[in-house]
Amino acid sequence: MENIIARTINLEKVYSPGQHNEVKALKGVTTEFRAGEFVAVIGPSGSGKSTFMHLLGALDRPTKGDVEIAGKLLSQLKDNGQADLRAKELGFIFQGFNLLSTLTALENVILAGDYAGLPAKITATRARELLTEVGLTERFDHTPAELSGGEQQRVAIARSLMNDGRLILADEPTGELDTKNSEAIVELLRDLVRKKQKTIVMVTHNEDLTRFCDRVIKIVDGKLA
Ligand SMILES: Nc1ncnc2c1ncn2[C@@H]1O[C@H](COP(=O)(O)OP(=O)(O)OP(=O)(O)O)[C@@H](O)[C@H]1O
Ligand SMILES: [Mg+2]
Repeated sequence: MENIIARTINLEKVYSPGQHNEVKALKGVTTEFRAGEFVAVIGPSGSGKSTFMHLLGALDRPTKGDVEIAGKLLSQLKDNGQADLRAKELGFIFQGFNLLSTLTALENVILAGDYAGLPAKITATRARELLTEVGLTERFDHTPAELSGGEQQRVAIARSLMNDGRLILADEPTGELDTKNSEAIVELLRDLVRKKQKTIVMVTHNEDLTRFCDRVIKIVDGKLA
C-alpha cells in the first residue's frame, strides 16, 4: 500500500458541538489518494468540501475519525508534529492566492522555502527554477499587484512546490479566473502530477475542469456521493 499517499478514515467534523449553531459539516468520509493522481472534489456550496480539505491538510482537527498522510496518523501527532508534516509533505493553493503584497513573486516563493526549513543557499535558486517551470521567467521582480490573476496563481503554485511535498491541496484555485486562465492553471497542475508524481486534490465548482483530472469525488451534505 505504499502508493497510498493519504487517506481519510470515517472523517467527521462538527462545528460548535452542542450549541444552538452546531453544524455537522462532515458525516463520515472514508477515501484514499494515490501517489501521482489528480483528483477533483466537487459538490454543492456548503456541502463540506473546504472542511474536508482543512482536515486532510492538518489545518484543523476532526471531531471523529482520522487522517493518514505518508503513513502517519494525524491523531498520533501533537500540533508541532502536524506542523512538521505540513512543512515537509504538503503544499497549499487557495482561491485568492494569499501572496504577500509587499513582496515580489520571487520573494514570495523564497519565503515558502524559509518556512519549509530549506537551506538559505538553495532557496533562491530553487525559487527561480520553479517560477520558470510555471512560466513566469520575466516576472520575478513583480509584486502581486503587478501580476495578472493567472500569474498570481502561478506564483502560488510555485510556492506550493518549494518544499517538494508529495500532496498538494487546492481549494478553488481557479475561482477568480476566467475560462481560458482556469484551463491553463488546471493543465499546469495536471502536468505537475505527471512530471513530478505529485498527488493533487482540487476542489472546483467548475465541472468542465474535471476533464483534466484522473478521478472525481463528490461531497453532498457532508458525505461522499
Ligand atoms: N469555522 C466554521 N464554523 C462553523 N461552521 C462552519 C465553519 N466552516 C464551515 N462551516 C459550515 O460547515 C458547512 C460546510 O462548509 P464548507 O466551507 O466545508 O463548505 P464548502 O463545500 O467548501 O462550500 P463552498 O463550495 O461554498 O466553498 C457549511 O454549512 C458551513 O456554514
Ligand atoms: Mg469551500
